[in-house]
Amino acid sequence: KLRLGVLISGRGSNLQALIDAARDQDFPAEVALVISNKADAPGLERARAAGIPAIVLKPRDYADKPSHEAAMTEALDAAGVGLVCLAGYMRLLSPWFVARWHDRLINIHPSLLPAFPGLDTHARAIATGVRFHGCTVHFVRVEMDEGPILVQAAVPVADDDTPDTLAARVLVQEHRAYPLAVRLIAEGRVGVQGNRVAVRGAGLASAMIG
Ligand code: GAR
Repeated sequence: KLRLGVLISGRGSNLQALIDAARDQDFPAEVALVISNKADAPGLERARAAGIPAIVLKPRDYADKPSHEAAMTEALDAAGVGLVCLAGYMRLLSPWFVARWHDRLINIHPSLLPAFPGLDTHARAIATGVRFHGCTVHFVRVEMDEGPILVQAAVPVADDDTPDTLAARVLVQEHRAYPLAVRLIAEGRVGVQGNRVAVRGAGLASAMIG
């Protein structure tokens, strides 16, 4: 099975979705290690409850970003990780880390990229008046929230949505999209060519409507 390293900073509901998916014996990946940059991230407890090693590596405990990321990489390598999944990891990674895990590093973002990179995506979607919003799983590149898109899930925006109601609708889809993206990679169906991802033998599976 493909061994996953999941990087978190907070709640960890996407981590939970991966843990839950991996409970199915047929799922071709397993969460091998969880790393948080915050000691109080609730996601750490989710990992421990599932018996998964979970460690805290605080950037402040290291001299600089390279040494923090080297420590993360050492832990990921020691755990035999083949794919790193950012799941609400709220720190920008350096070009070194991104290159070190090239095409073995994915992120989930709460918008239909390239719309709304960055923060407060749900409020911005409402303010912009888009009729569809959603989430994106993409391979990580050096620019924030950029990189070849693997899976997207779209949801409608209701006239009376608030950022919270819209976030909840998107989150349901995040929890479907992330395990699907991991499955496609673990099954060896995913090829990256420049900006584009080709998914072999999975039809339109990577475009979901919630
Ligand atoms: C998720 O909505 C994820 O898409 C978002 O943070 C939330 C984390 O929730 N990620 C980003 O905004 C990254 N730029 P979770 O901790 O419950 O998975």
